[in-house]
Amino acid sequence: MRVITTVRGVREATSAIRRCGRRIGFVPTMGALHAGHLSLMRRARRENDVLIVSVFVNPIQFGPREDFNRYPRPFARDAALCRGAAVDILFHPTTRQMYPEGAPATRIHVSGISDILCGRFRPGHFDGVATVVAKLFAAVVPDVAYFGEKDYQQLVIVRRMTEDLNLGVRIVACPTVREPDGLAMSSRNAYLSPRERAAAPAIHRALALTARELHGTRTPVRVCIAEGLRSLREGLRGVQYTVEYFTVMDETLRPIAADSPPPRGIRLRVLTAVRLSSARLIDNIGVHTHP
Ligand code: PAJ
Repeated sequence: MRVITTVRGVREATSAIRRCGRRIGFVPTMGALHAGHLSLMRRARRENDVLIVSVFVNPIQFGPREDFNRYPRPFARDAALCRGAAVDILFHPTTRQMYPEGAPATRIHVSGISDILCGRFRPGHFDGVATVVAKLFAAVVPDVAYFGEKDYQQLVIVRRMTEDLNLGVRIVACPTVREPDGLAMSSRNAYLSPRERAAAPAIHRALALTARELHGTRTPVRVCIAEGLRSLREGLRGVQYTVEYFTVMDETLRPIAADSPPPRGIRLRVLTAVRLSSARLIDNIGVHTHP
């Protein structure tokens, strides 16, 4: 495995690979790797000739009061995990490499979908994500890039940006990897206190309950959401929390009518964000309504 720390270095390495006609799979990450990241790498390894992973904690996607400084950076461990996952190139640029002029003057804003859900609570976050993903794509020039459904809104935004800008990268969505008790794996789970960690699986339980209700299709969407929220609040009793949103959208994140049962035979997403005192957790689940 080669560790490359410069944009120029990764550009030269990948252009040589492309000249040989080899297919490049790319997994962008912020490190603190866990089984969720590893599942993306495994799939990318299987489907491509060359596997490139990036580890870069991107400052421009964090708000001023967010966790950029304390975000975990266990690089030696990440590098060992990458080696074990048969990664060919680990791209690990410094902030100066990615942003030599400081904050970039050019930002990508995917309008509409960036301002709802998490975008309402993290202003500018998805512009930071879209901008860094475009920069990483420009440096690596992958054939295929792998993203987790765990960050569903991010996935939809990256897909849209890639299409709108003709970036020519195929975006592959990978299912959320969970702890045995249902909690979605996340680098931020390390922030949770023991009491919060014990309560956190309530998030997935509430999403799954809502999905089951929606699947039947006879109940109005609003009622299914209320049931899920009730279960979430019940499960989080005893910890401090704020539910930022708990909602149902179509799979491209367009709103659906809440006062009637969901349309039959369509794919929906139930999505939530919960702020606990030590961490903000997001999760979502897909549901296919009865035909
Ligand atoms: P990060 O949070 O490190 O996640 C990197 C990739 O791993 C994302 O595509 C994310 O959806 C996926 N992932 C995280 N947890 C997962 C889980 N439990 N199951 C499956 N996939 C999971 O997302 C980012 O970094 C950044 O925003 C990035 C895209 C790298 C841009 O900076």
